[in-house]
Amino acid sequence: MKKSIREAYIDRYGQEPAWIARAPGRVNLIGEHTDYNDGFVLPMAIDLAIWMALGPIDSSTIRLYSINFKQEAKTDLNDLKHNDQGWLEYVKGMAWALQQSGYSLAGWQGIVWGEIPIGAGLSSSAAMELVSARSFAAVSGFDWDPVQMATLAQRAENEWVGVNCGIMDQLISAMGKSGHALFIDCRSLDTRPVKLPPETTVIVMDTNTRRGLVDSAYNERRSQCEEAAKLLGVSKLRDIDLDTLEENTNRLDPTVYKRARHVISENSRVLDAVEAMDRGDALKVGQLMNASHESLRDDYEVSSPELDVIVSAAQEQPGCFGARMMGAGFGGCAVAVVTTGSAPGFVDLVSQLYKEQTGLNPSLTICQAAKGAELMNVP
Ligand code: GLA
Repeated sequence: MKKSIREAYIDRYGQEPAWIARAPGRVNLIGEHTDYNDGFVLPMAIDLAIWMALGPIDSSTIRLYSINFKQEAKTDLNDLKHNDQGWLEYVKGMAWALQQSGYSLAGWQGIVWGEIPIGAGLSSSAAMELVSARSFAAVSGFDWDPVQMATLAQRAENEWVGVNCGIMDQLISAMGKSGHALFIDCRSLDTRPVKLPPETTVIVMDTNTRRGLVDSAYNERRSQCEEAAKLLGVSKLRDIDLDTLEENTNRLDPTVYKRARHVISENSRVLDAVEAMDRGDALKVGQLMNASHESLRDDYEVSSPELDVIVSAAQEQPGCFGARMMGAGFGGCAVAVVTTGSAPGFVDLVSQLYKEQTGLNPSLTICQAAKGAELMNVP
């Protein structure tokens, strides 16, 4: 990728790029719909990324060519406006968030090339924000502070792009560590790399279904969590344990109660999964992933028939420790942890079972845990 994007830059602009930046997508091993409740998550950056090759120019313009969209787009940093420029809105949003927090930005020209499937729940938008942030930091000469950049990227997503996400995707894209998942406390933003159990492999299973209405369902879940926290007298569901929830069942409407039960039980599953990972106990990690799927399906109600089919097909395989839906839900990807030796056979069998039951072709990808957003010297 590095070589190809460098060549693409040279072809287009007739000179060497000054830098190449990349920021990865992610999977989430466990901890779903907990980030906006100030809870815990355990994502892992993957070896699919968005790349940018770039060089400074003598104006306040950003001029960027997208290889995926075969399209050039431009914007003026002194006059950022929302005007529905598709993929460029993520770059503009990042520029806006940086400017809002006092950074002064210089212009540049570049090429962008993404390997992350769009809309699959692998956080291509967070990767686009973080690769832009790394590019702005390089051209404008400011230090790279991953936590601050992730926070500003989340602001770009919330306030510029208009998607009300939590911090997980941006933080893992900024801070991933190769060979490791990252335990994140979404309140303090403290992170700790956690090693994958020995001889295990992570597989992303894309159902190849994409659902509309994800945003409205996501916002509805967020409001239900806020309502539960308010009725229980805490600022976030992070501050409640299951016993306290059970004692207060009658104060919550049954749906809001189920939503809260998912978040609270998921937080403790993440803590248990981190302990299990520290012991190298893949079996326990897998059991917790399976329980997470049930809770997302039955209590949080964000799964879909296709996600349930692919997760069951995965769980049936002898080499599989555990599997669950991933991300916001309603379509997109699930994730499985399997014995490394069984991975290729697992991919074939699960693909076949899913196709038989749904008539759809899934895409299964074996992933490696990759490094977070980085800048490379050229060549
Ligand atoms: C999306 C959001 C994240 C997180 C997940 C659900 O990926 O971007 O912030 O809330 O959904 O865990």
